[in-house]
Amino acid sequence: MKNLNVVILAAGEGTRMASRIPKVLHPLAGQPIISYVLSTVFTVKPKNVIVVVGQDDRVRSRILEDYSKIRNLEFVRQDKPLGTAHALACTRKNLKDAEQVLVIAGDVPLISRDTLEEIIAFHNREHTQGTCLAARLANPSGYGRIWRGPTNEFLKIIEEKDAGLRELQIREVNSGIYVFDREPLLTAIAQVHPDNAKKEYYLTDVIEILRTQGHRVAAWQSPNGEELLGVNTRVDLARAESVLQRWTLDALMREGVTIPLPQSVYVEPVVRIGEDTVIYPGVILKGKTVIGKNCELGPNLYLENCTLGNNVRAVYSFAREVTMADFVSAGPFSHLRPGTHLAERVKVGNFTEIKESSIGEDSKVPHLAYIGDAEIAARCNIGAGTITCNYDGVRKNKTVVESDTFVGSNVNLVAPLKIGKNALVAAGSTITRDVPSNTLAIARSFQIHKRRNEINN
Ligand code: UD1
Ligand code: CA
Repeated sequence: MKNLNVVILAAGEGTRMASRIPKVLHPLAGQPIISYVLSTVFTVKPKNVIVVVGQDDRVRSRILEDYSKIRNLEFVRQDKPLGTAHALACTRKNLKDAEQVLVIAGDVPLISRDTLEEIIAFHNREHTQGTCLAARLANPSGYGRIWRGPTNEFLKIIEEKDAGLRELQIREVNSGIYVFDREPLLTAIAQVHPDNAKKEYYLTDVIEILRTQGHRVAAWQSPNGEELLGVNTRVDLARAESVLQRWTLDALMREGVTIPLPQSVYVEPVVRIGEDTVIYPGVILKGKTVIGKNCELGPNLYLENCTLGNNVRAVYSFAREVTMADFVSAGPFSHLRPGTHLAERVKVGNFTEIKESSIGEDSKVPHLAYIGDAEIAARCNIGAGTITCNYDGVRKNKTVVESDTFVGSNVNLVAPLKIGKNALVAAGSTITRDVPSNTLAIARSFQIHKRRNEINN
């Protein structure tokens, strides 16, 4: 392959987003738009990737959060967004070693590696100096149009704002992705003038300039028009989300996940789900969530950065940074906060909140409990209304409950506290001292009976 540089244009103001956040940093399925473009362009093994950024430094710093160790990534500043040709011209010095340049906008997150490889291959096979990635769209509005001559030869790109009625009928559009030979590109780009509706230096003009200078240009039509979706508005962003969801869910279903109503769930593309798991409506799976086989999730469940084993059942619940081993059952209405680890066959029921705690095998916290900073061992039963009083106003203190212990209903466990094995804590107790193993602890005022006619004496 020839020495290829990639230029990502991301210095535009993104005015149409009506946002204080730079357009390419808006999240799409949890990741900034530009991160999709970046990870895809690296797959075609470029010598260098150059990102053109604007005044706002947030784009560069956000990218560096993920790419600080990548050496062939450079940033170039375009001080004023004078147009896509001007943005590309800003990279002139950085392109010195390149033979070919792949130019792509930072706002086309759905582009695939295959499509990029195909346009590069086409450019080399056809010996063109400028190749534009095009597609035929049912609704071409918003895009530059591909203008062809009588023998179908590619003549130029007409921007929508500069197009007449007849040109607006053209359904073949410019994706904003191109491969150029560097030398002719740099010559042509110097000749672009901003004599158009937007008074900008259009990169699209380079095609006509190259052609009139005797170079070969071509528009290669991609069969996958959906990939070329450019995000200019939040309506486009929502469209990109729905395309990405469809791709993600279709792939999961092909891998053996049942999703009876795909329109009703949201699964980020990095989530992994095992065979024969069923995802019912109202399920949201985010971040680095990994789910095993044969689970039943939902209806209505939010999981973020969670790891679930096999045969887990979770319904109407919310969990972040939680692990659930095989055969755990959670919900309805459980709130599982970061640092919660549920071992095999644990049951967590309704109106139970757990944070920074581990619950051992076969233990149950079936209803109305708050468990914080606790270690509960195997085969314990934690009764309804049990509260770990883990916070003394200054420090978080730990509660340890050893195996086979039964905690009755409405118990306060005032931490730091240790309850031994096979202990029994009577309902309604406020436990402030450690309980030895094999012991019944009872800490409440006893019930007395008085005759009614004695009450006032
Ligand atoms: C551009 C193309 C259009 C194409 C469409 C595909 C031009 C003139 N038009 O239009 O033919 O159909 O993409 O999505 O190129 N940018 C800069 N500096 C600037 C201006 C823009 O870096 O001065 C960046 C933007 O951040 C963006 C990209 O270039 O990532 C494209 O700019 P945008 O304004 O979105 O162009 P479109 O109107 O979509
Ligand atoms: Ca765009």
